[in-house]
Amino acid sequence: MQTYLRGRDLIGDLDFSKEEVETVLEVAFDLKRKRALGEPTPYLRDKVLAMLFFFSSTRTRGSFEAGMAHLGGHAAFIESRTTQIAHGDTPKEIGEIFGRYYDGIAIRHVDWGVGNKYITEVAKYSRVPVLNMQCDIYHPFQCLADLMTIFEKKGRDLRRKKMVVSWAYAASYQKPISVPQSLILQMPRFGLDIVLAHPPEFRLMPEIMDMAREQARKYGTGFEVVDDMDEAFKDADIIYAKSWGALVHTTDTEEGARLLQKYSNWITDERRMALAKPDAIYMHPLPADRNIEVTDGVMDGPQSVVYDEAENRMHAQMAVMALTMA
Ligand code: CP
Repeated sequence: MQTYLRGRDLIGDLDFSKEEVETVLEVAFDLKRKRALGEPTPYLRDKVLAMLFFFSSTRTRGSFEAGMAHLGGHAAFIESRTTQIAHGDTPKEIGEIFGRYYDGIAIRHVDWGVGNKYITEVAKYSRVPVLNMQCDIYHPFQCLADLMTIFEKKGRDLRRKKMVVSWAYAASYQKPISVPQSLILQMPRFGLDIVLAHPPEFRLMPEIMDMAREQARKYGTGFEVVDDMDEAFKDADIIYAKSWGALVHTTDTEEGARLLQKYSNWITDERRMALAKPDAIYMHPLPADRNIEVTDGVMDGPQSVVYDEAENRMHAQMAVMALTMA
């Protein structure tokens, strides 16, 4: 096991260089192959990961917990409301104290304007790696799994391939903007031309947009923003369409709900998928609002790779944990 990432945090997508991300994915593919063959992977025997959740999860919890077990270690699930955080434990206490008990600290905190700052502050005081299981700005582990899935389905040479990162309507709740932000930062490094599609009110953070444009310039890839889902889908190789909340409006108000309703036709359906290339893949990090955000036909259809994508969360996370915590 290569360990040159030992001790490193992963909070933002660009914390690891392109070469380091390539190493992570090589290790992830090796771990996936070994798991398929039933070979043991005890790279983190006797190591323990703290998983501190301020927000609910299906995949993130399951994949980190199972991943640590497959690496021979243990993951402790800690729900923030069961801690003394509300009674005075600051990020300093969490970083200092958990850093002494555990070999890594993974945190999910998606509260707008709070989550990323919280995780960064814990990392300041922690002597062990701090891993971002999703904050208000980034979802780096989702993005690594997405990249791994794209390599599997589209090969390693992604130059001139068109990836659509599109907003979609959802009724369930105002989802964080971290997934699209991570995608537009990481994917240009690997040659993908990005078309970002969203209604005008659902833009991403201006500073992340600037960073994404800079990445695209650096790697000579395309970066375009449109406000028309049909136009975006045309001739695409990869469709990644999901809901996210507005930066300035809240959908909890009457005005916000009206605004959201205006775009209820932003759904990935069979007609729209037909605008993309015939071999285009459909991606979504899940959970998705079925038949609101995406039709059953697309989600369960031959172009959908959502379950491979969810599986790859575990392999990618195992790779990062093994490389940083070994
Ligand atoms: N995609 C993702 O992060 O899923 P969960 O919210 O279920 O962890």
